[in-house]
Amino acid sequence: MENEKRYKEFIELDKAASLGGGLSKIDKQHEAGKLTARERIDLLLDKGSFVEMDKFVVHRCTDFNMEKSKIAGDGIVSGHGKIDGRLVFVYAYDFTVLGGSLSASNANKILKVQTLALKNGAPVIALNDSGGARIQEGVESLTGYASIFYQNTLSSGVIPQISAILGPCAGGACYSPALTDFIFMVKEKSHMFVTGPDVVKAVTHEEVTKEDLGGAYTHTSQSGVAHFMNDTEEETLTSIRELLSFLPSNNMEDAPVRPCNDDIRREEESLQQVIPDDPNIPYDIKDIIEPVVDDHYFFEVMPSFAKNVVIGFARMGGRSVGIVANQPAYYAGVLDIDASDKAARFIRFCDCFNIPLITFEDVPGFLPGTNQEHNGIIRHGAKVVYAYAEATVPKITLITRKAYGGAYIVMSSKQTGADVNLAYPMAEIAVMGASGAVNILYRSENEEAKAEAVSEYTQKFANPYRAAELGYIDEIILPKQTRYKLIQALEMTQNKSVTHPPKKHGNMPL
Ligand code: HXC
Repeated sequence: MENEKRYKEFIELDKAASLGGGLSKIDKQHEAGKLTARERIDLLLDKGSFVEMDKFVVHRCTDFNMEKSKIAGDGIVSGHGKIDGRLVFVYAYDFTVLGGSLSASNANKILKVQTLALKNGAPVIALNDSGGARIQEGVESLTGYASIFYQNTLSSGVIPQISAILGPCAGGACYSPALTDFIFMVKEKSHMFVTGPDVVKAVTHEEVTKEDLGGAYTHTSQSGVAHFMNDTEEETLTSIRELLSFLPSNNMEDAPVRPCNDDIRREEESLQQVIPDDPNIPYDIKDIIEPVVDDHYFFEVMPSFAKNVVIGFARMGGRSVGIVANQPAYYAGVLDIDASDKAARFIRFCDCFNIPLITFEDVPGFLPGTNQEHNGIIRHGAKVVYAYAEATVPKITLITRKAYGGAYIVMSSKQTGADVNLAYPMAEIAVMGASGAVNILYRSENEEAKAEAVSEYTQKFANPYRAAELGYIDEIILPKQTRYKLIQALEMTQNKSVTHPPKKHGNMPL
């Protein structure tokens, strides 16, 4: 009988803890168009797989009458579960408890999850929706953040770390997501800023809405802080599951292989027509990427930021690949500061997690101008060379059209360590385009002489054969053969093993 009483008491306490800040706060959360922490976790994980830890943890603050507002769980719901049957760790800020503010106790809950994830080699997913440091706890809360950031940094490159911003995320709190690999945001529901609109107004007299300052659109298209924008929380959580399907659980594993029903030898006639006869006419590089990957499915990352470079995941013959491509349909595919940053960080992510890289190259060069030079295109462009050169995963490059100048070198050229370099017959591998070259070499000549020189230069350099003669291009292929040729290159390099000289870490230009 005594036991029965205890069971009942436990069930009641557990039920109360499941309600976080209580029914009225849950209603308020729903009225704001947001899900609760537990609803989010339920949608994210395989049904019934969530194991909640630390459900009865409470804060230890005694100032400001805080003894009276101890709520089981204290603003964080945390634990582990499965996504597609694979172990993941998760923590979600519970906005119904003191606005999901971070106390020392719930910082410890987060640290427990982070530490377990690292020890057991599984991804961590953070669902953010928080008023930031718990004001009543002062420095104890701040040190909680510091410990979380430290753990984020130790885990970087060992386990995938993913952040979803599903409500406010302000001040220093932004730096935990910023230290993770991918950030998801929801349109009009999530905000990230180091200082909010009121502080901005007081300091700079600038009037700005929180959406313009740090909403999903701003961070996915202008600042490049976030990688994905979704219309709803439900879509965001589904998208996180999708992303994880391309990734291994940790840096000692390969990404899971999916059974592939798409013929690896499939030839795609449409590819023969994608690239226009006139090299100055743009085309969409995704019209090449999509037809060659398994089931035409390309999971694009950062689709709205620095669109002159395209990055994302796909599968080839069932195996995950990371794709980096110049986009001739946007600024002619030129490399600028943002495109360089976007490409370099993605290359490094793929290298951390054993995901082979395929580069589709059509690049007229780096973007000229004072804006780019003064803001450090040299330093930013160098990141691309560095990232490719240091990457030890299989690296396959396909030059579809232009490969000019320094940009040719940095986009995974043979001498920066690419394993297989392919080119289409219309590839142009040269220091620069023909008219640019002639304007320099024949500046004082008449128009007729210049036209002749352009034709000579085009004949000599606007093709892949000079590079092929020198062995810088391994094979010239027809566009329709692209899928099988890339898969053959990936199969050939599957067991690639390369080690660089031992060092603490390199000094990448940042
Ligand atoms: C304690 C907090 C809190 C906080 C919110 N609450 N933020 N309690 N510490 N930081 C409480 C509110 O008092 C309220 O309690 C409940 O959470 C819900 O908050 P509302 O204001 O009613 O919600 P809403 O209108 O949606 O506004 C959300 C908000 C706002 C924009 C986040 O609450 C806000 O501006 N909070 C303060 C944000 C802030 O300045 N944080 C410190 C940042 S500095 P009741 O009891 O009324 O329900 C920081 C440093 C980190 O974080 C440094 C790391 C290195």
